[in-house]
Amino acid sequence: MRIDIITVVPELLKSPFEASILKRAIDKNIVEVHLHNLRDYTDKSYNQVDDYQFGGGAGMVLMIEPIDKCISALKKERDYDEVIYMTPDGATLNQKIANGLSLLNNVIILCGHYKGVDQRVRDLFITKEISIGDYVLSGGELGAAVLCDAIIRLIPGVLNNETSALTDSFQDDLLAPPVYTRPSNYKGSTVPEILLSGNFPKIEKWREDQAYDRTKKLRPDLLDQ
Ligand code: ADE
Repeated sequence: MRIDIITVVPELLKSPFEASILKRAIDKNIVEVHLHNLRDYTDKSYNQVDDYQFGGGAGMVLMIEPIDKCISALKKERDYDEVIYMTPDGATLNQKIANGLSLLNNVIILCGHYKGVDQRVRDLFITKEISIGDYVLSGGELGAAVLCDAIIRLIPGVLNNETSALTDSFQDDLLAPPVYTRPSNYKGSTVPEILLSGNFPKIEKWREDQAYDRTKKLRPDLLDQ
């Protein structure tokens, strides 16, 4: 998979890809992530990429021209499956959306900033709008990092234990069951007996029951879906 991220603050998007699972996915050539500084696509002085909004009002708006130039340059090189815009107005990211996006080959992610982008960018170039939750961030960059993490860890070969993404919370619209590791007794606080029993069919059943009970208690809305 190849992900091209368009941003006015590429610095914000460096470190998420320089450690842990995302770095390993890049090192293994399973995914390529390219950052594009929108300021490299403007002819205006001071590398201007934003302007005041027509009609008045507070806040600057990212202009269509540099975004068009950047997206067009990318599209000249290859076809893209989706051009995603990170915005609080978008569909709220969930596991189902992440699963779908993890199957794609080439994706562009446009990060908004200030008041957002000129509406014509959304009308002409954007194929999907994604929010990471009902709150407003200073820009789309942190949302893009969250989205990339959620997608990339699902691509086969990225996680060491292939089954581990399949048993994540939300994969079956259920929360994950509790997990424990050594010691089995920590200052009198013990691990459920069943997990030490070696009876794997029974352990599996216990985990399923725990996942269901937890979901019913903490996120009953998931069971309605
Ligand atoms: N940009 C600003 N707020 C955002 C949000 N909640 N999700 C995605 N992108 C955003």
